[in-house]
Amino acid sequence: MCEPEWPQPGRERMIMPPPVGFRGMDVPDPEPALFKKMVGGAVFMMGDNPALPRMPERPTLLDFFRHRLTDITVRHLLTSAARALDAGLEEKVVLGCLLHDISNGCLIRSDHGYWGAQMIAPYVSEEIAWAVRYHQALRYFADESVGYQYPESYYRFFGPDYVPPDYIRQDAEMARNHKWYMTSRLITIYDTYFFDDVPMPDPERFTDIIGRHFREPEEGLGFDGSPSAHMWRTAIWPNNFL
Ligand SMILES: [Fe+2]
Ligand SMILES: [Fe+2]
Repeated sequence: MCEPEWPQPGRERMIMPPPVGFRGMDVPDPEPALFKKMVGGAVFMMGDNPALPRMPERPTLLDFFRHRLTDITVRHLLTSAARALDAGLEEKVVLGCLLHDISNGCLIRSDHGYWGAQMIAPYVSEEIAWAVRYHQALRYFADESVGYQYPESYYRFFGPDYVPPDYIRQDAEMARNHKWYMTSRLITIYDTYFFDDVPMPDPERFTDIIGRHFREPEEGLGFDGSPSAHMWRTAIWPNNFL
């Protein structure tokens, strides 16, 4: 039996931005206007958005780098990881660098270290997920003993008078005394911004390290029933209404 065609040809497919994408911005709440358009036959986006590259049926980590992460994040992650690799750091640190901002690139920015860690936790060692989680808090605190200073970019991102909230301070302090501290600290050391001044590293450079330290599920990321499969699916279909 044929699958019914959806939506019917000619029907507009509307995208409702998620609340975290517009709350607090100087734009009208999009919900009332979009709901009103349903009267004219428009439907909401579900499934593949034709404006986005189609993901393979069983997506791998690098498929997300190729098709879903934003350009600036891809460049930032590949550059951080390439610099760690060139410096001869352990593979767990290189993979941590490659994944540390994955949430900003395809899911959510706010508390990105925590979201990113949760997203990768079923597929990497506990230590790598831990290091990704705490890099967010450790970024705000210098460690002169390893030559890490408060990032110059943060003065520009947040202004010179920004003070991180208590939970960040507390988590950084806890991380500072943890046995995996240096894994997370090394991520912050290589977490520097290069936008246009270096050539984009080839993602294939990391294939072997990913193969050894990232358990790609046979069913593809998003379809293996893991505790974070829904986060990968959200990255595949970011515009789904529900
Ligand atoms: Fe980060
Ligand atoms: Fe970063």
